Amino acid sequence: MTRHFLRDDDLTQAEQSAILDLAARMKADRWGEKPLAGPQSVAVIFDKSSTRTRVSFHVGISDLGGSPLVITTANSQLGGKETPSDTARVLERMVSAIVWRTYAQSGLEEMAEGTRVPVVNALSDDFHPCQLLADLLTIREHRGALAGQTVAFVGDGASNMAQSYLLAGATAGMHVRVAAPAAFSPEAVVVSDAERRAAETGGSVLVVTDPVAAVADADVVVTDTWVSMGKEDEKQSRLETFAGYRVDDELLAHAADDAVFMHCLPADRGYEVTAEVIDGPRSIIWDEAENRLHAQKALLAWLLAAA
Ligand code: CP
Ligand code: NVA
Repeated sequence: MTRHFLRDDDLTQAEQSAILDLAARMKADRWGEKPLAGPQSVAVIFDKSSTRTRVSFHVGISDLGGSPLVITTANSQLGGKETPSDTARVLERMVSAIVWRTYAQSGLEEMAEGTRVPVVNALSDDFHPCQLLADLLTIREHRGALAGQTVAFVGDGASNMAQSYLLAGATAGMHVRVAAPAAFSPEAVVVSDAERRAAETGGSVLVVTDPVAAVADADVVVTDTWVSMGKEDEKQSRLETFAGYRVDDELLAHAADDAVFMHCLPADRGYEVTAEVIDGPRSIIWDEAENRLHAQKALLAWLLAAA
């Protein structure tokens, strides 16, 4: 049966762990495995801007021996004249997988429904699961086994990154805390899905409004932009609402002594994080960015082998 990766909990804990193991092997031997040799083509479609996702998928598909086909929606029929479903019916005749960055999660679900090739969420308004595979790989590299570690996300709790941390962290058996203003809490259904998964893995989930309560003794502190793509009209009010949620040295001092700082990038220095923190000794953001490449190569290889 075709496997899709639309949200973090599409993988079990064992599957997530196997993909991270494969990513580590691929990182150690970058051109050693060519499961897309032929070459097989992979379509990578963007409704929103991207640097890391675009480059890491393009390079990663090439590394695997495949041929990347990067499409900007503005220059395609998708989003204008053609539905996600009809687009998928056409693409599945020609490519081995479809990777899509879009707005509504429902579009990805429609794209995947009945499609014979894997569909991968390269960021939606609700989730950013490819980023989380890279983040988990990075946490493993810097801090060891994921299960039992505490990660604190501070900022926009309703964002794709916060919600993916809830699902992916719970899947990994981590203790996931989110600190966000009450009006920007994660969706209740995402929290309950994460709680259910955490109950299976030994992890836990905590949503609070107080950043200090979330960060206290945490092993990993994470934030993301306060103004996600598509929210630009709300920029001014968001900057005011989130002003108490900046990750600075004072907040980070509440975390464990050896805590690391992460950010998926791009970052707005001085808003969600100070330059001292993001450019400081605890920051592991460049390893995190590089790991997009290795994690997504492993994901594609795993999905195609599972199909
Ligand atoms: N982190 C991330 O997804 O970056 P891009 O928007 O540059 O792809
Ligand atoms: N939350 C951010 C992530 C960017 C990679 C956004 O959706 O814009």
